[in-house]
Amino acid sequence: MTEHLEKEIQDAQEAVAKQGDTVRSLKASLKEGKSEKADVDAAIQKLAELKLVLEAKQKEFEKATGKVSAQSKEALRAALAGVLERRMFYIPSFKIYGSVAGFYDYGPPGCAIKQNMTQTWRNHFVLEENMLEVECPAVTPEIVLKASGHVDRFTDFMVTDAVTGECFRADHLLEGHLEALLEDKKNPPSAEKIKEIRELLASVGELKQDTMAAALKEYNVRAPGTGNDISPPFPFNLMFKTSIGPKGDLVGYLRPETAQGIFVNFRDLLYYNGGKLPFAAAQIGNSYRNEISPRAGLLRVREFTQAEIEHFVNGADKSHPKFASIAGLRPLLYSRALQMGEEKKAQPMSLGEAVEKGIIANETLAYFIGRTWLFFIKVGINPERMRFRQHLQHEMAHYATDCWDGEVETTYGWVECVGLADRSAYDLKAHTSMSKNDLTAFEKFPEPRMEEVVKVVPNNKELGAVFKKDQKAVKEALEALDECGAMELKSKLEAGETAKVATSTGQAFDIKPGMVEIKKVTEKVTGRTYTPSVIEPSFGIGRIMYCMFEHSYYTREGDETRAVMGFKPIVAPTKATVFPLVQKPALNELATKISRDLTSVGLSNIIDTTGNTIGKRYARTDEIGVPFAVTVDFASVDGDGSVTLRERDSMAQVRVLQSEVANVIRNLVDDRMTWGDVTATYPAQKAQADEE
Ligand code: ATP
Ligand code: GLY
Repeated sequence: MTEHLEKEIQDAQEAVAKQGDTVRSLKASLKEGKSEKADVDAAIQKLAELKLVLEAKQKEFEKATGKVSAQSKEALRAALAGVLERRMFYIPSFKIYGSVAGFYDYGPPGCAIKQNMTQTWRNHFVLEENMLEVECPAVTPEIVLKASGHVDRFTDFMVTDAVTGECFRADHLLEGHLEALLEDKKNPPSAEKIKEIRELLASVGELKQDTMAAALKEYNVRAPGTGNDISPPFPFNLMFKTSIGPKGDLVGYLRPETAQGIFVNFRDLLYYNGGKLPFAAAQIGNSYRNEISPRAGLLRVREFTQAEIEHFVNGADKSHPKFASIAGLRPLLYSRALQMGEEKKAQPMSLGEAVEKGIIANETLAYFIGRTWLFFIKVGINPERMRFRQHLQHEMAHYATDCWDGEVETTYGWVECVGLADRSAYDLKAHTSMSKNDLTAFEKFPEPRMEEVVKVVPNNKELGAVFKKDQKAVKEALEALDECGAMELKSKLEAGETAKVATSTGQAFDIKPGMVEIKKVTEKVTGRTYTPSVIEPSFGIGRIMYCMFEHSYYTREGDETRAVMGFKPIVAPTKATVFPLVQKPALNELATKISRDLTSVGLSNIIDTTGNTIGKRYARTDEIGVPFAVTVDFASVDGDGSVTLRERDSMAQVRVLQSEVANVIRNLVDDRMTWGDVTATYPAQKAQADEE
């Protein structure tokens, strides 16, 4: 039944595409005087009819299957891409030289949206939580990324086309292949095979080199496009390598995440914060990953803006003072249990309940999930198409306590836009061990306690006699022993044995009885030293922007050539347009004054004095998502001095005094006023004829 419908949708799409070509060529020949206007109109009419047929078929498919058809997803993506490229939201970089995959330039509206999005992020997180913001270099010396594990482990498995040499990401290839098998209508897999494929699909990200090789072989995965054999998978490090300085002997990398800049500054940040924990630091900046096969526009690129938070907290207490403020929020949560269950569907659940039931590991992680959800809604993501997916146990690094990805539904499927991870004390410990710097915090007990502690008292005379110039290093190594290490040494020495102790440079020395006294004493303890845990929300700004574009795009009812980007005013690139209704000096003058008023209250605006009809001018600004339009007409200069103010989505208009209009728009953009408040306060104005 649905195959039949899918075929009809495909045919209808081809007919629309063909008729679209006919309209374009007729329009071109009309300009050259080689065709009649009546022919063009008839062709446009036919195109509209064909589009209606296509739409009806797509609706029928959606009703029958409860899914958006692949064709309508593609049609939506293509239509949106048309607007994004035509209006220069973003375009492939280095276009005149043929472009390089994975790099995009933002054009004027794209730049403005990115600025607004990062500013909103900064206000929502950095200001609200008094975070400490830093800005660190992208070029990073190797030792930092060696400590973090990126040099050794920041890899994806790659395969190449055995004939053309083209490179592919092995997990993506396998996933695509398995999904195609599940969708195969001609040779549908057996129920047993479906189960096996689904299980493999769920673990693709976790396959090791040998298991990935075995899976690719078993399913006979071949190179896309050519169908050629593929090479066995091999690890490929995603970092861009470079050399620092003229001699080129200091190896560096472009950072693959901004987080490391925060970790290496931990000690100074803690000092800046008066030694107090918890505190959070944040960084917004570009990160670089040499993705194997970048695709899907802004979703997978090689240079992208990250906004990351490292919230440092005592691992023994991950409660959050503001938890109550988000505990009642009910985002869609896709817990481990739901992913393993039959239905495989996220469910709304209050964050309070999720913490109480132990689904989310702690209050601080849940607090950031809640704040992240509010941020996404603020910038225009549809909350019904956003979920938080918990990492399965085997997806998480061994040190992580709990991880959730904020995913947004798009025509490309569910896309991870933010990762929220409780990374325990792993990062600070790794940098402590590599840098030999103390990255710990001190917790002062409310009252001093009497505690039994282990005391290590080196015998300086004996150490000096035996180790001479190394005496200091050996003494420090003995004093640095933790309780367990010290007790182990004590028992060996008491048994008359010799034990080895390593210094900070890794040099080992033999310690003999009499060189050190180790004893347990009871003493007053005022606090303890510990390595803080870190909870890390990591956002990709470009991915959020693209998802927001998809969720904002729509066409005017009954006219799918009129695209509207329904941006929230807070992110809209231009907040208002100003139009003189007709070209008259008095109207132009007042329009210019209103434009200046808008600028003076910090609102980006454009003034459109082209002779186009008002309907055409609205259509142009709808496409770049301008939420408000001010029109100056004769009543504005001769009558009561009011202008019309139009809201983009409802297309409703009111009359507002020109002296008030800039402040009304400022209040609307800042969410101090709703459009409902405006229509309740100001008299309605009938829309212009060509806009109805
Ligand atoms: P993926 O599995 O999709 O490659 P990831 O799990 O490697 O993503 P993280 O390492 O958690 O992603 O990065 C944090 C965030 O940075 C992501 O949630 C995403 O928003 C963004 N990001 C990561 N890689 C890219 C990329 N190549 N292009 C655009 N944004 C990215
Ligand atoms: N800092 C998290 C990430 O970029 O992977």
